Amino acid sequence: MLKPWTIAIDGPAGAGKSTVARLLARRLGYLYIDSGAMYRAVALKALRTGVPVSEPDAISALARAARIHFQMAETVGTGEQRVFLDAEDVTEAIRTPEVTALSSSVSAIPGVRSALVAQQQALGVQGGVVMEGRDIGTVVFPNAEVKVFLTASPQERAKRRHKDIVARGNQATLEEVRRDQDERDERDTTRPVSPLLPARDALLIESDGLAPDEVVEEVLEIIDRRRRGG
Ligand code: DC
Repeated sequence: MLKPWTIAIDGPAGAGKSTVARLLARRLGYLYIDSGAMYRAVALKALRTGVPVSEPDAISALARAARIHFQMAETVGTGEQRVFLDAEDVTEAIRTPEVTALSSSVSAIPGVRSALVAQQQALGVQGGVVMEGRDIGTVVFPNAEVKVFLTASPQERAKRRHKDIVARGNQATLEEVRRDQDERDERDTTRPVSPLLPARDALLIESDGLAPDEVVEEVLEIIDRRRRGG
């Protein structure tokens, strides 16, 4: 029996990481972990408890105390995943525009990152995981067998996110989504701790014009080739 691998899928918001990572995990029979949901859960906890980002120590303490776990909703047959914070299902609550904005600032706090990276490493310790995020191939699992850096043009990413936001019943114009995205990209790529950058050994995939299935097939081919030592 081959040892299950660790697959890191990194990239900016709107590149299609979640869909690709989820499909890939299903095809491989691996666990799918959305690390961004963990930063979002800490942001939600900060909002609810009224701790401002100007108090990084207090927010780091919240992150260390947060019990975040994932549960597959296989019963409904969608492969969809529910996110729990301190035993409460927060799957929808972590997707509001307010939490989205705050999670970017929260993720720049070193104490938050170290608390969540430790939790992510524990979740993937046995391999057999597809983890998506920003620093999975660089910091969380630098020894991952396969690292993918998935991106797409800013306009394409904004269009996809706008569609998502509207589908969730929230309101925003494409211009607002693009503006928020540009600000978030700037923060995520320039922060001193774990900036969003591809790992040196990551495979770069530009998803403009590609359906998620096509990206998944490309990654599966690479996995297969590497498995055979190519
Ligand atoms: O992927 P997402 O939009 O759900 O992530 C929410 C925020 O968390 C985003 O601003 C980037 C940040 N993040 C991070 O810094 N490191 C990760 N591994 C995952 C997400």
